[in-house]
Amino acid sequence: MVAITLNGQALALEIQDKLKDDVREFQKRYQCAPNLSVIVVGNNPASQVYVRNKSIVAEKIGFVSETITLPENITQDELLKVIEERNTNRSVHGILVQLPLPNHIDEQIILTAIDVHKDVDGFHSTNVGNFILGNESTVACTPLGIMHLLRHYDISLSGKLAVVIGRSNIVGKPMAMLLQQEHATVIMAHSKTQNLKELTKQADIIVVAIGQGHFIDETYIKEGAVVIDVGMNRDANGQLIGDVHPNVMQKASFMTPVPGGVGPMTITSLMQQTLQQAIKQEKSYE
Ligand code: GUN
Repeated sequence: MVAITLNGQALALEIQDKLKDDVREFQKRYQCAPNLSVIVVGNNPASQVYVRNKSIVAEKIGFVSETITLPENITQDELLKVIEERNTNRSVHGILVQLPLPNHIDEQIILTAIDVHKDVDGFHSTNVGNFILGNESTVACTPLGIMHLLRHYDISLSGKLAVVIGRSNIVGKPMAMLLQQEHATVIMAHSKTQNLKELTKQADIIVVAIGQGHFIDETYIKEGAVVIDVGMNRDANGQLIGDVHPNVMQKASFMTPVPGGVGPMTITSLMQQTLQQAIKQEKSYE
C-alpha cells in the first residue's frame, strides 16, 4: 500500500480563499478589518519563521496583522503591559503570544493575561476548561487544523484506536481531547511510555508530536494506519523534516507530508478563529 497524501497545503489555500470573501463581508459590515496582534519575545529562529508565516497569511486574506517583537530580556511586567494595551484596544480582535517564552517569564501568567475573547490560540485557562467541558471556546490551532484535515478526507474516527505521541498543552493534550470528542479511543503516549511500538502497532490513527526527526519508521505502524506528522525538525543539511520517516508512506493509508501537511492547517485554523472572535466582538459593540 502507498499512502494517500493528506494535502494540508491545498486544503489550507482552499479555506483561505473562502476566508478572503468572509473578510470582505466583515469589512463591509463593520467598517474595519479583523486585526491580529502577534507578540514574539526574543530571537528564537523557529518562532521568527512561524510568526512571519502567520502574518503573511493574515495579510493575504485581508486582516490587519501587527507583529510585536520584544527583546529576550523584557520583564514579565513589561510584557503584561504590552498585552494589556492590546486587551483594551478595541481595534485588536486577536492576540497571540508565540511560544516558547524565555525561562524567566511564567507562561501561564502571560497566556491567562490575554483577554479570553481575544485568545485566538485557545491557550487561556478559561478556554482550555470550556473546551474540556465541551462548552463554546477557542481551541489550540494545530489539533483543530488536524481535525479539519481528517474530516476533509472523510476519515472516520468513531470507535477507532488513536495513539497520540506527545502530551504538550499546544498539541498532545488538546489533540487527544478532540479525537475523543469524535468518539475515538485515545491513548496518550509520551517520553516515559514503555513499549511504545506495541501501542502504535495497534493504532488506526497515530498523531506524532515528538520533536525528533524521522523517529517513527515503518516498524511502528500497522498496515493501513492514518499517520499525522506534527514534527518540524531540521536535518543536518537544514532541511525541514517531520517526526515520521518517509518509508511509512509504504504502509500507511493516509499520511501528512512535512512540509505541506499540518503546518498550513495550523495557520488557517488561527485565521478562522481570529475571524470568528472578531465577528463576536464587533457584534457585541453594535
Ligand atoms: N509555538 C508552537 N506552536 C505554537 C502555536 O500554535 N501557538 C503559539 N502561540 N506558539 C506556538
